[in-house]
Amino acid sequence: MQNSSKHVAVKSLICYSLVFCIVCAGQNSGPICNGRGYKKEGSSKCTCENPLPQIGTFGYSGPDCNMRIFGAAADGNDMTQGCKSSGCDTLHPDEWMCYSVPFASNSHGTAWNYLTVQLNRLSEDEAGDPDLYGMFYGGTDAKELDTATFGYDFRETSSSSHESVVKKVKKSDISATFDHQGVYLCVKAYGEANLTYSLRATVSQCSADFTRAGEQLLCSSPLHAPASEQRYSQCLSDGTCACKPPYNKPVEDVYPLLGFEDCSAKTEDITAAQLSLKKPYIKEHEELTPKAWSFYGFEVTPDDYQVVIDVSTEVNGEDDACAGDGYFGLFAKFGKPPGWRYGEWDFRPDWDYFGAEDNELEIRFDATKEAWQTGRWFVGVNGDDAHTCNYTLSISKYNCPMNCSNRGNCISAANGTRTCDCFKGFFGEDCSNEAEHLQYGVPVTKAAASFEYDFFQLPEISPAMLTHSVEVRVRASFSSDGYGEWAAARPELLLLKGDLHSEPHTANYTFKQVLQQQNTTYEIDLCPSQLKQGVWRAAMYNPMRMYKLAYNLTTVKEGRCLNNCTGHGTCSDDAVCHCLDNWTGGDCSVYARGGSCSPGSRKPTLMPEAHGTCWHECRCDASGNCAYSENECADFTCESALWRRKGTTNACVQDKCKQDVWEETDSHSCLKRCECPADGSACAPAKTCDAAHFACKAGWRRFSDGQAKCFQPGCQAGSLQEAVGRSVANGQAYALCTCTGEEREDKPLCTAESTAEAAVVVACSEGYVLQGASTVPGSGVRVGGSCAKAGRTRHVAATVFLHIFEILLSGTAGAALLWLYENRFRRSTVNAALYHELSMDTGF
Ligand SMILES: *[C@@H]1O[C@H](CO)[C@@H](O)[C@H](O)[C@H]1NC(C)=O
Ligand SMILES: *[C@@H]1O[C@H](CO)[C@@H](O)[C@H](O)[C@H]1NC(C)=O
Ligand SMILES: *[C@@H]1O[C@H](CO)[C@@H](O)[C@H](O)[C@H]1NC(C)=O
Ligand SMILES: *[C@@H]1O[C@H](CO)[C@@H](O)[C@H](O)[C@H]1NC(C)=O
Ligand SMILES: *[C@@H]1O[C@H](CO)[C@@H](O)[C@H](O)[C@H]1NC(C)=O
Ligand SMILES: *[C@@H]1O[C@H](CO)[C@@H](O)[C@H](O)[C@H]1NC(C)=O
Ligand SMILES: *[C@@H]1O[C@H](CO)[C@@H](O)[C@H](O)[C@H]1NC(C)=O
Ligand SMILES: *[C@@H]1O[C@H](CO)[C@@H](O)[C@H](O)[C@H]1NC(C)=O
Ligand SMILES: *[C@@H]1O[C@H](CO)[C@@H](O)[C@H](O)[C@H]1NC(C)=O
Repeated sequence: MQNSSKHVAVKSLICYSLVFCIVCAGQNSGPICNGRGYKKEGSSKCTCENPLPQIGTFGYSGPDCNMRIFGAAADGNDMTQGCKSSGCDTLHPDEWMCYSVPFASNSHGTAWNYLTVQLNRLSEDEAGDPDLYGMFYGGTDAKELDTATFGYDFRETSSSSHESVVKKVKKSDISATFDHQGVYLCVKAYGEANLTYSLRATVSQCSADFTRAGEQLLCSSPLHAPASEQRYSQCLSDGTCACKPPYNKPVEDVYPLLGFEDCSAKTEDITAAQLSLKKPYIKEHEELTPKAWSFYGFEVTPDDYQVVIDVSTEVNGEDDACAGDGYFGLFAKFGKPPGWRYGEWDFRPDWDYFGAEDNELEIRFDATKEAWQTGRWFVGVNGDDAHTCNYTLSISKYNCPMNCSNRGNCISAANGTRTCDCFKGFFGEDCSNEAEHLQYGVPVTKAAASFEYDFFQLPEISPAMLTHSVEVRVRASFSSDGYGEWAAARPELLLLKGDLHSEPHTANYTFKQVLQQQNTTYEIDLCPSQLKQGVWRAAMYNPMRMYKLAYNLTTVKEGRCLNNCTGHGTCSDDAVCHCLDNWTGGDCSVYARGGSCSPGSRKPTLMPEAHGTCWHECRCDASGNCAYSENECADFTCESALWRRKGTTNACVQDKCKQDVWEETDSHSCLKRCECPADGSACAPAKTCDAAHFACKAGWRRFSDGQAKCFQPGCQAGSLQEAVGRSVANGQAYALCTCTGEEREDKPLCTAESTAEAAVVVACSEGYVLQGASTVPGSGVRVGGSCAKAGRTRHVAATVFLHIFEILLSGTAGAALLWLYENRFRRSTVNAALYHELSMDTGF
């Protein structure tokens, strides 16, 4: 800190002495104070003539009285008009021209809050660089003009890049106790070029401005426009513009300097009818004046998942000043209009998302982002600082990433995540990806373009490629202006084995090749057996998608033939030798005169439908004429180890099993023999189980005739079970277990059906007796009936006992009692006396 301030002090000392020397030199060579003033006794400074000239007259100022001053009014007219004849509108390099502008001269009286100055460069060929310096005069802290550029109250020096600049000075920003009487406005020709300019000023109660053409605006409305065309209803005495919709604040608390102060910002309310999941909001020909803001408010609802906002400059002809990106700012914020300062926006374009065209800005955000909220959002578009440009805005809301690119269905999970189920042929998070199908030997050449991933699908692998010695190579080369030596990142060629939904990615690939140098071919070698399963996709990856990349991509297959066809033939890309005339054999090593063949040599014919190759043998007849036996295969080989020759036939089969298999079902486990038919047909597991290796599972029993099948025995024959869903007044219903006697796989042998009246046994409660029951012929079991109030003499327990005894009598029902004893009485409602009687009297 100390060091640097010392440094500044030394520097200014040098500067001052330099100025002093120049002043000395001037004094020695010309008249004192350029003949426009005098020096007071003992002062080194000039007192110049008429430093506050009346409107329309000249005066002088500056240390040497070398700065001309012209008296002009802040009425919004070009101040050079009054002094043009004296050349005040044309300045040579480093020349100054000042204007003295008394505040009393404005047309709005003295109650003003804003001073607005416009400096336009009028020189041809955009030459000249006028700088504006302003200094207030009068009042208690008045200073004097100087050709040194420090000490001024305000300045505007950006005009080299702007043909027209407007400087706004707010009185309250200058000083709380403003008592100045006017302002000097000075123009300096900076740089090497001569300069022509115009200069306008106005003082006003509310914020004022000038159009490029010099028309005065108040609260962003033409000064003399009829009230209906004005953006404000009133200019309040504190300097606030009372803006009319749509120029008013959309919410009370807005960030400062977005244009709600001077009605230059516009807000449009987008309704649910204009923007929904079904319909994007698109607005064309939106005009934006330099630095102005346009805001758009819209609702985000719980149904929405993603919002995508695009702004593109409308290009009008080849050399439209607004073409290209960078002419707008784009921001989005929840709850209030966004500003460009940090913290005043939630989202702005992610430079990773480059639009298809250079003139596009895009914001994408979705429910996975921390700043996501449902409610009112605002989009702000901020104009370029020099040009009025038109743009097209589009806002889309989607329920899934990018609406699944209209190539898939949106799946919404219970936890709120949304995923796309892409239609066939499309993949990627938003189904935007598509793989171009490659063909062997057909190069794909892509012109320079901005992209991140381009996807391709490798060609199919034919059976011939698997049986022969064939290599597959994927080759790529690239060129790009963006990948200089400095660039650490390089394009990559990626291969991934996956399924129809998978895409190669830098984080997920099977093979990768980095393309180090431009215009150099890199390749990945594969053998077909690697490729025979799954879907193989290739991707060209551009790590710096802002740089356009051109590339070539080719897949080739290369055959490797036996003995390289012995030099007597050419090797096809499927690794088959095509022999020259008079040569034959698999490797063209056999010389066969006159088209005939040498005995014993063989010639292959591919038979894809039989999954094999037929080998024809050269046979000779008695007179020595040799030829391949075209209709006969001396041997037949199958296309891969997956296939086996079917006996001695000319066909190959695929076996379904290689060994016996264990079968597990709900009812049994068993061994099924792998059966291979004598004719050589494909082996397959036997249809039925091997009886010697067969076991029924728990709860199942094997068929009594020894068949390898199981049945369920069901309930104990003659036992009673609670009759579900049946109620008997004053008693309990039991279903009788009856058996069909027929062992079946699909139905238990014995069942207790409570639906049939004829199979329900009724036990009556204490004090009730069974009436109307019928006896099952041949068994003595009484079924059906109802319970009636018992007479005094007969004890109910005895009744039940008798009834049960009757069951007991029927030989088939012996076990019923056991069941009743075990499952029912032990823990149930029937009284202990009955239990006692039963156990005593029946001997159980
Ligand atoms: C500026 O104008 C003067 C004459 O007014 C001329 O002599 C000079 O060459 C011009 N300079 C440039 C850089 O054009
Ligand atoms: C999103 O896709 C659905 C159906 O695919 C379509 O009806 C809807 O209009 C699309 N939404 C937008 C904003 O394009
Ligand atoms: C810009 O939009 C305005 C209307 O908003 C239209 O009058 C003007 O012609 C447009 N300019 C261009 C260059 O498209
Ligand atoms: C939400 O559910 C989906 C599928 O049900 C699951 O794949 C995903 O991981 C879950 N996400 C979170 C954040 O729990
Ligand atoms: C693509 O291949 C063509 C023809 O071989 C060649 O002229 C071109 O330079 C290649 N382009 C790239 C980007 O490698
Ligand atoms: C990589 O791709 C494979 C094949 O599609 C897929 O199964 C796997 O989940 C992917 N892995 C990652 C980390 O994305
Ligand atoms: C690569 O080739 C292209 C076209 O053939 C050429 O324009 C480019 O300059 C070359 N790049 C390098 C680095 O040699
Ligand atoms: C195979 O033979 C061909 C011509 O018959 C020749 O061009 C090629 O270089 C040979 N390849 C090898 C590996 O010898
Ligand atoms: C093939 O053999 C025939 C008969 O001997 C002969 O006429 C012909 O020139 C030979 N062809 C070549 C290419 O050697």
